[in-house]
Amino acid sequence: MEGLAMSFRSRKGGPPLVMVTAYDYPTARAAEEAGVDAILVGDSLGNVVLGYSSTLPVTMDDMVHHSRAARRGAPHTLMVVDLPFLSYQVSVEEALRNAGRLMQQGGADAVKLEGGKPVADRVKAIVEAGIPVMGHLGLTPQAIHQLGGYRVQGRTPEAARQLEDDAKLLEESGCFALVLECVPEELATNIARSLSIPVIGIGAGAGCDGQVLVIHDLLGWSYAKKLPRFVKQYANLAEVARNALCEYADDVRSGRFPAAEHMYRI
Ligand code: KIV
Repeated sequence: MEGLAMSFRSRKGGPPLVMVTAYDYPTARAAEEAGVDAILVGDSLGNVVLGYSSTLPVTMDDMVHHSRAARRGAPHTLMVVDLPFLSYQVSVEEALRNAGRLMQQGGADAVKLEGGKPVADRVKAIVEAGIPVMGHLGLTPQAIHQLGGYRVQGRTPEAARQLEDDAKLLEESGCFALVLECVPEELATNIARSLSIPVIGIGAGAGCDGQVLVIHDLLGWSYAKKLPRFVKQYANLAEVARNALCEYADDVRSGRFPAAEHMYRI
């Protein structure tokens, strides 16, 4: 039987692919019930679930813990899990072991890692071990201190050429798909057209083969000071939750809750 990652790959050229992050049972379950094409247990969980100001503190243990929960919520959907900071940068061997751990213990169908040429040997080794790899180029949050902040990448001709070369190299190294984050639309479209693997954009315009968003951003369940321009917010769960909790607190304080229907009798 063809694996989920390979069938995802073969859908390039069809309707745009839908990917969303999910980090736990209920969000993964909602994503599967909505029929998304893939869920990503992203290391963005460091920001939106654990309250860190970057993805750098996220550990392998965090990723395994969250992906196990997400797997239970979405047993039938392609689940890609991020290799966190320092889990693949040190050596090819560590990269392979940690990718294997996400598959064995986290229930991943595929792993994702950030970067181009410097990680191409890691991609090759992981793919040769039978683990599908998704690449990630453009704004790569694990390199935020090198990039000098969360800003659009590939705006100069040299930077654009570098991204095109890296994208080609990742495809040649065996990636089954590629995430492009925060790059100009024209560049992302050219890259998507030049590759035979799906290019999934986040802040990369409409010319990609699919889109991914962080679920807390699209549901309005994020406490970020300012959402990036590329986010479309479909709900305001933070407000819904706050209002519900205020109502609950009022009910308890005023004696309206619990009412007769919430009580047991002898
Ligand atoms: O960690 C993450 O959520 C990601 C997406 C932004 C693509 O890598």
